Amino acid sequence: MTTAHSAPLTAQLNDREMPAWWRQAVVYQVYPRSFEDADGDGIGDIRGVTSRVPYLKELGIDAVWLSPFYPSALADGGYDVADYRNVDPRLGTLDDFDEMLGALHAAGIRVIVDIVPNHTSDQHAWFQEALTAGRGSAARARYIFRDGTGPDGSEPPADWVSVFGGSAWQRVDDGQWYFHNFAVEQPDLDWSNPEVRADFVKTLRFWSDRGVDGFRIDVAHMLTKDFVDPLPSQAELDAMPRDGNHPMIDRDDVHEVYAEWRAVFDSYDPPRTAVAEAWVEPSRIPLYARAESLGQAFNFDLLEADFDARQFRRIVGDNLELAGTSGSSTTWVLSNHDVVRHATRYGLPDAERDSAGRPTRKHGNEWLLSGGTRPALDAERGSRRARAAALFVLALPGSAYIYQGEELGLHEVAAIPEADRQDPTFFRSPGEDIGRDGCRVPLPWSEDGPSFGFGTGGAHLPQPGWFADYAVSAQHDDSTSSLALYRAALAMRRLLQTDESLTWVETGHDDVLAFRRSNGWTVFTNFGTEPFELPDGPPISLSSRHRDERILPGETTVWIAGA
Ligand code: GLC
Repeated sequence: MTTAHSAPLTAQLNDREMPAWWRQAVVYQVYPRSFEDADGDGIGDIRGVTSRVPYLKELGIDAVWLSPFYPSALADGGYDVADYRNVDPRLGTLDDFDEMLGALHAAGIRVIVDIVPNHTSDQHAWFQEALTAGRGSAARARYIFRDGTGPDGSEPPADWVSVFGGSAWQRVDDGQWYFHNFAVEQPDLDWSNPEVRADFVKTLRFWSDRGVDGFRIDVAHMLTKDFVDPLPSQAELDAMPRDGNHPMIDRDDVHEVYAEWRAVFDSYDPPRTAVAEAWVEPSRIPLYARAESLGQAFNFDLLEADFDARQFRRIVGDNLELAGTSGSSTTWVLSNHDVVRHATRYGLPDAERDSAGRPTRKHGNEWLLSGGTRPALDAERGSRRARAAALFVLALPGSAYIYQGEELGLHEVAAIPEADRQDPTFFRSPGEDIGRDGCRVPLPWSEDGPSFGFGTGGAHLPQPGWFADYAVSAQHDDSTSSLALYRAALAMRRLLQTDESLTWVETGHDDVLAFRRSNGWTVFTNFGTEPFELPDGPPISLSSRHRDERILPGETTVWIAGA
């Protein structure tokens, strides 16, 4: 292990007067196993990330968020962590990590790592110990073990269904059952156990001491539980209000954990940051985003929205208001490793919604069901709208999260043979959920060569032939490419990061949204298909489609400086 830990970037840049670097940062999500494979074993790795630092610097991002790179049996793409303070040997070593951190910092890019505190892997030393130590042991008390029901205890303690489908309880050899909110291989920890709490503090310090700048907290709203006998049924759980007292979702007492973490974050200079993945009622998001808690929380509303002016305007308004309540900044996310890529979502029919606008059927997520209908995809339209949506959100106040490959305009890969699929959601809900593998296919770096430049050892999820058209090499020098658009937008965005307000400009057209930032820039997005005549004013600085035209075509965004 090296001792030459990388100094945190803020210290290197001596910009302590700007401690809240994250408030309007552009954060690029790296899914390490699918980014770049430096050692040719078919799996992306840490040295692969290091080798692409020049690409990331040229793109113009402020930070990288690394999805889990820890030792893992990959039952859930690395979100089943076997050791929180190490690197998966297939991905490298701690020395490789330090080298990557140093290279990113030297390029002016901060680093956020993913912490998965709700559950461990069943391969984690603690869980293995719990299995052998037996019932009533201190080792089992780190997890949630119960006796079964029925005359011989052979029925699960409750009829609860896991997030990935199937029972949320699994029986072990001596007859007891353990609770797993996600896959069977992801036993939930018992967060009322002080040993569990102390160990995660150790993990946060471990990575903070190495120089990481922040943390993304996986399912931050599920850690604490209150399972009182007799356990409620699934139907009863579903009917309970999520008001802070629900037995397992978004409990108020989870913030005791984060208050302790906040003290850890603030003990560093500069303070480490955190962003919560919390799927909670909107009114409760500020609890996670408060400075006393994790400090920022994801806003996932755009993952569920259609490409629709009314929906976008409501979502922007709601989330800026929520950010005002917490004192944090909001986060804009169009794609991540859990959803169908937005270029594809926007090329599918709109979701079916209830009267409150909530999706009842999400065509994007149900796309290409093995047994069901297959809505037609208009890929070109999806690409056009994806560029317009990206330019819209990149001009908003708050931080923007880009998922690897989104800058290339990548579409979802639908045609993955069943034998190659990896995602547990596919296997635990056969025929109901296609799973998340389609957005996790290794990136195309070059138009030809093995694995489109991903590595020499093949790709762990099959890449389709059309990936060549989206390769970095095909786009790098093409000023009309998606990559060029993202690079230009990120460079210009620096001028927008002044304050965190916007003013809506009424356009008189339901399908056209416009807003002004305090530096005088105006952004117009035409969500419809009818062309819209832009008002007279300064020339267009950036367009998702055409340059310097006063007619804004459908499904297009433009930025106008100083209008
Ligand atoms: C989060 C992750 C997802 C993972 C789940 C369980 O939602 O984003 O990929 O499967 O947590 O850890």
